[in-house]
Amino acid sequence: MSQQSNSKRIAVIEGDGIGKEVVSVGVALLERLAEARGYQFELVHFDLGADRFLRDGATFPEEDQQTIRETCDAVLLGALGDPRVPSLDYARDILFGLRFGLDLYCNIRPIQCLSDRLMPLKGKSAKDCDMVVFRENTEGIYVNVGGQFKKGTPDEVAINEDINTRKGVERVIRAAFDFAKAHGRGRVHMADKSNAMKHAHELWQRCFREVAADYPGIEAKHQYVDALCFNLIRDPSQFDVVVTNNLFGDIVTDLGAALQGGLGMAASANVHPGRIGLFEPVHGSAPDIAGEDKANPLATVLTIGMMMTHLGWPDEEARLVELVRRAVDEGKCTADVGGELGTRAVGEWVVSQIG
Ligand code: NAD
Ligand code: IPM
Ligand code: MN
Repeated sequence: MSQQSNSKRIAVIEGDGIGKEVVSVGVALLERLAEARGYQFELVHFDLGADRFLRDGATFPEEDQQTIRETCDAVLLGALGDPRVPSLDYARDILFGLRFGLDLYCNIRPIQCLSDRLMPLKGKSAKDCDMVVFRENTEGIYVNVGGQFKKGTPDEVAINEDINTRKGVERVIRAAFDFAKAHGRGRVHMADKSNAMKHAHELWQRCFREVAADYPGIEAKHQYVDALCFNLIRDPSQFDVVVTNNLFGDIVTDLGAALQGGLGMAASANVHPGRIGLFEPVHGSAPDIAGEDKANPLATVLTIGMMMTHLGWPDEEARLVELVRRAVDEGKCTADVGGELGTRAVGEWVVSQIG
């Protein structure tokens, strides 16, 4: 890996549906950043997703996994999911192959509303919504432990086990506190359902209290996840950093995306500090608008900002956030956020502003 040098190898996986459209904007942006600022990016394209699966049955070949693991600094992923493959097994192979396979235990999802024009809540403005969610990303109910029994009969049983380990819970909680400390954020909320899920979430409660004791300058608060959803809509300004499990983090961040102006504005980073990171917009492949040049590419622009920070250039992320804010304020955006441009035109405008 070339973590210390100015040359970075970035794996690019377009995936399915609008993933292809937004990643093509992302690639143009990376190429322009390299040209304008002298970065050396080597983009390595991987043909993975539904088209590949339907063509030759491959999901995420071991050879590709190894190349990514051993030679790349970051992965840019569009989205996976295609109605032609209802089981979505191939999509899980790729997505979880990356998240679990690379042990990327923090899924960092900022919920920041960048413009008053995007704030959907009555009486609130953009400044009322600025938090970062740390979603546990390697265990929970996502681990595919379980099974089906007597499938298709009236007696059938379906089980997905919820796996919570001390190591897994502690490291993501600690990462949330470390992030708060490093970024001058004074409060960390932990969201669970310990009132219902006695065993697993008692572990989250205990672990949260113990880790919080190591960070005396940071206020440690708890909300049950149902109450947190309620409060996200009622008064998002109370949240600063939120840490939660895999499933709740998935749900809470789609809800949060609505406070940012929609899924087209929500970015994410999957990281394990010091290792290769996976960067993907929060949204999926959006089959309802795929191929129509309607997808909002700004979540991908913000996602590339997160990648720049990961690669060691946080100023670049700050500049991209401001650029996205300006795109929205000046109407250089797609219809979902009040503009009239298509995906490609937004991408061209973004690229034209770098330099
Ligand atoms: P989705 O995020 O794809 O779409 C939800 C709604 O938001 C749709 O109406 C869509 O048109 C809209 N939307 C999403 N992104 C947008 C953008 N950039 N610009 C404008 N509008 C946008 O969620 P879904 O419909 O539930 O899922 C579709 C497929 O994507 C499924 O197969 C799902 O499993 C998959 N998925 C994949 C990922 C991923 O790869 N990380 C994430 C979420 C969903
Ligand atoms: C996300 C997606 C995935 C998840 C799906 C596609 C498995 O919703 O990245 O938010 O639940 O993690
Ligand atoms: Mn999701």
